[in-house]
Amino acid sequence: MPALVLLGAQWGDEGKGKATDLLGGSVDYVVRYQGGNNAGHTVVVGDQKYALHLLPSGILSPECVPVIGNGVVVDPAVLLSELDGLAQRGVDTSKLLISGNAHLITPYHTTMDKVTERFLGKRKIGTTGRGIGPTYADKINRVGIRVQDLFDESILRQKVEAALDQKNQVLAKLYNRRAILADQVVEELLGYADKLRDYVCDTTLLLNEALDQDKVVLFEGGQGTLLDVDHGTYPFVTSSNPTAGGACTGSGVGPTRINRVIGILKAYTTRVGAGPFPTELFDEDGEKLRTIGGERGVTTGRDRRCGWFDAVIARYATRVNGLTDFFLTKLDVLTGWEQIPVCVAYEVDGRRVDELPYSQTDFHHAKPVYEMLPGWSEDISRAKTFEELPKNAQAYVKALEEMSGAPISAIGVGPGRDETIQINSFL
Ligand code: GDP
Ligand code: IMO
Ligand code: MG
Repeated sequence: MPALVLLGAQWGDEGKGKATDLLGGSVDYVVRYQGGNNAGHTVVVGDQKYALHLLPSGILSPECVPVIGNGVVVDPAVLLSELDGLAQRGVDTSKLLISGNAHLITPYHTTMDKVTERFLGKRKIGTTGRGIGPTYADKINRVGIRVQDLFDESILRQKVEAALDQKNQVLAKLYNRRAILADQVVEELLGYADKLRDYVCDTTLLLNEALDQDKVVLFEGGQGTLLDVDHGTYPFVTSSNPTAGGACTGSGVGPTRINRVIGILKAYTTRVGAGPFPTELFDEDGEKLRTIGGERGVTTGRDRRCGWFDAVIARYATRVNGLTDFFLTKLDVLTGWEQIPVCVAYEVDGRRVDELPYSQTDFHHAKPVYEMLPGWSEDISRAKTFEELPKNAQAYVKALEEMSGAPISAIGVGPGRDETIQINSFL
């Protein structure tokens, strides 16, 4: 009854989509447990490239059942258009299951996301503008709308009216915007009900029964550890828990059932949006990583900020997630550097610090302490075993493994499914 969690060990975009897809053929269920269509997961199958936002990457594996868990926030318009887009490309989406307890992103949540960011001005978070924060805020505030509410018009109307009574005051008085009409929102949401009805079920019951029957369940995180609302670089974070604990609350599967937690770790570091980033590069090395790595956001098209590998962050991810393995991605992007700096610790106000400072002020002051590792120039994209990597690439991987505190069980050497070196099996 293996249950595995696969999550981002940095600030997102580590290559989770590719890693999930790779495992998709051997697992029975792939479950998204948090986040929403702020995610952008790229999967390359042969010459076909897919950009998934809300759907679990397992949707591309015919035998696998994709599940949207209770912890996810669902924009029904985006969901239906993503399903349509895949169906047009011949992907069977009929197996999808959606938790009735997942919360809905409505047009007023996306509006609130955008006006709040504008209001913050230069203090903005740099959100994806998809309504994620306001939807989770409503959930915690107990004024959210859930998927199951689509099927009871009278409850839906009461809840939308209650939520808008308060929001319209804020929109009009604080942001100088026109009020949003409850009738219009209810009508739009009711329009989705019949299209979604057959997908909706008690996913918690189903997943626990699947584990009882020895099925393999894979939990696919969105975003990453440092974007976690509790464990990330708050307030420059997303509004959910991408860390391993989120897989339990976001699905209703208990922690004792989870056997393996795999951290997806890029061989360097990227970040989208505002917030501290100690190893960020502002020179031609940063530009080179961005260009060779194709570091442009899948969701918002923004250039990703790029920097060297940060072992302090990797160690932190191992700790807060209880990682059992790493999947190191994009090693191929580092080909061609004579020497590769790796951040092994920080200097904070003249002191050396080996662990992530818990204080926001200290983290903002953290300067990377670099160790130089020798680079390689050989093309590694066709390597199938660890031994086929150049000696210096092997040494780079081994050094990262030692610094990061968990075994590197797979290495990505290209975006395709088969461009992977598997060292230890995940199952
Ligand atoms: P996710 O959000 O974690 O799923 O990652 P994204 O899809 O946003 O960004 C990762 C990018 O790296 C995508 O364009 C992937 O196709 C690509 N990718 C994943 N693994 C590798 C790898 O090992 N090498 C290279 N060159 N690209 C990779
Ligand atoms: P995947 O799953 C990278 C970032 C945004 C912003 C912050 C808050 O593809 O790795 P939000 O819209 O969530 O309220 O924005 O989080 N962010 C991501 N950065 N990858 C993602 O997803 C992200 N999802 C959100 O840029 O800084
Ligand atoms: Mg992404």
